[in-house]
Amino acid sequence: MYKRESLEITPDRQKQTVNLDPLWLPFTPNRQFKSTPRLIAGAKDMHYFTDNGQSILDGISGLWCVNAGHCRDRIVEAIQSQAKKLDYSTAFNVSHEGAFNAAEAIANIAPDGLDHVFFTNSGSEGVDSALKIAIGYHRIKGSGHRHRLIGREKSYHGVGFGGMSVGGIVPNRKMFSMSLLPGVDHLSHTLDIENNAFTHGQPQSGLELANELEEIVRLHDATNIAAVIVEPIAGSAGVLVPPVGYLKRLREICDKHGILLIFDEVITGFGRTGNAFASQTFDVTPDMIVFAKGVTNGTVPMGGVIVKREIYDAFMTGPEWAIEFYHGYTYSGHSLATAAANATLQTYELEGLFERSKVLSPYFEDAVHSLKGLPNVIDIRNYGLMCGIQLLPVENKPLQRTHDVFEKCFEKNVLVRAAGENIALTPPLIANEEDIDLIVDTLRNAISRA
Ligand SMILES: Cc1ncc(COP(=O)(O)O)c(C=O)c1O
Repeated sequence: MYKRESLEITPDRQKQTVNLDPLWLPFTPNRQFKSTPRLIAGAKDMHYFTDNGQSILDGISGLWCVNAGHCRDRIVEAIQSQAKKLDYSTAFNVSHEGAFNAAEAIANIAPDGLDHVFFTNSGSEGVDSALKIAIGYHRIKGSGHRHRLIGREKSYHGVGFGGMSVGGIVPNRKMFSMSLLPGVDHLSHTLDIENNAFTHGQPQSGLELANELEEIVRLHDATNIAAVIVEPIAGSAGVLVPPVGYLKRLREICDKHGILLIFDEVITGFGRTGNAFASQTFDVTPDMIVFAKGVTNGTVPMGGVIVKREIYDAFMTGPEWAIEFYHGYTYSGHSLATAAANATLQTYELEGLFERSKVLSPYFEDAVHSLKGLPNVIDIRNYGLMCGIQLLPVENKPLQRTHDVFEKCFEKNVLVRAAGENIALTPPLIANEEDIDLIVDTLRNAISRA
């Protein structure tokens, strides 16, 4: 069982000595950040420690990835000892035991039938790999015209050209509008505030939105469509929970037309919904699952794709000396990443963290829905240990209100995520009721004052 230790970090004066200029921060207003930087100096379990001695309760598992809490001994020690033993081994034609063990451990907790793992270094690379596997699979099976990819509005699939093209977050796409992949269609998103605001868990209405896939099939003909990719719960768009029956309906339509179904579980994987994968929670098995983040508890960058045996087998044809898939990364199955993954998966199992997440989620649900009625709160959505609180934007000042809430929470020592006009909460699975209360009460205060 997980037991919390206490750890204090001595404030240092890092802020005064670090040169902030050369670094270009991702997905961050750089100039604003550099005028009021927030520098993290350390972390343990549920907390971050800043360079000026602040202890911050982590309400978002780092960035939806530190599911077992920070700086966990088993994981840290595994990385340290691996670094001494084997720093790197080439990923092409040579491999190492840790990579096979990690693939086996991931396949063991994946839905039945998904039993082969391709490693990448991030979720974005995982998504692009899955899209390439889908197109390659159809070509090998003699359906080389199946090229079209179907994504969904408001979805986030990383920042590669593939993921950006099937993704549906407008600010991420608009600068590259003419450079996106051709042959991509989008399903409508499932957010329906008018009918489903403040639903606890899955909305009852909205299943029919999955039928749009039939319309896309009618338009292009199924023989031209390779795959549909969706996040089972859209995270970055502010936690959009699938309507009851929606994912099953997508599966049925894909089966009917020979289209591959890909679940992007970069956020929903590794216990976030009370099971290893949301696929198991919603009882819908895709053909591929993209994972990243929680696989190493955020410690070493890693991602990948879990594929059905049938897909792997399709590639394993032709002469044995021939490379079956011209794709991969220098760091696919990196020795430190796989050591971290093996120790992380052991930690999840030994501490029963997926079950713990399931047990805590009704408490979390009640706590977050207690924010209903606060000024400017227009919707609250939740599932498992994920929730999105949607706020009314300030007129002509998009994102200002949520950024203000983020800052106010940070001042009060709680880290939340401003995702567009939503505040997202995704606490580590080791959180307890007291942590949830503190996160939600701090947020209550911040929203009331924003
Ligand atoms: C659903 C989903 N897919 C893909 C990604 C991209 O992952 P990465 O940032 O590791 O490239 C993310 C990142 O948040 C994500 O939430």
